[in-house]
Amino acid sequence: MRVTVSRKAHFNAAHRLYRKDWTAEQNEAVFGKCNNPNFHGHNYELIVSVTGKINPETGYVMDIKDLADIIYEEVETQFDHKNLNLDVPEFQDLNPTAENIVVVIWNKIRKRIMAGNDLEVVLYETPRNFVTYKGE
Ligand code: NI
Repeated sequence: MRVTVSRKAHFNAAHRLYRKDWTAEQNEAVFGKCNNPNFHGHNYELIVSVTGKINPETGYVMDIKDLADIIYEEVETQFDHKNLNLDVPEFQDLNPTAENIVVVIWNKIRKRIMAGNDLEVVLYETPRNFVTYKGE
């Protein structure tokens, strides 16, 4: 019997989608408005889910307070009110698309989750646009 425990979180961040090794025309053609040189912001929403067996002693898969603390330390303190391109080392040479952001977040949280438990991260860039990564 495996149960999924989920925690929602939120951060505001700015980004610009572009490749340094492409011309302005190539970047404009592929990334359009998202290539705005002066950056633009999003209200990112996050759903972090951990799936595993219930510990018979505690009745928990994991203490959701611990999950909240991990998300706060690994994501909110590092991404909230930041410029992802300029302020976050992981995106110095990685385009901060929703896809790349969700993989970076998953990797940061994964190392804090008990082996044997599965991790899934859903990242909303807008209320209608979201991506999912399960480490596959
Ligand atoms: Ni954007």
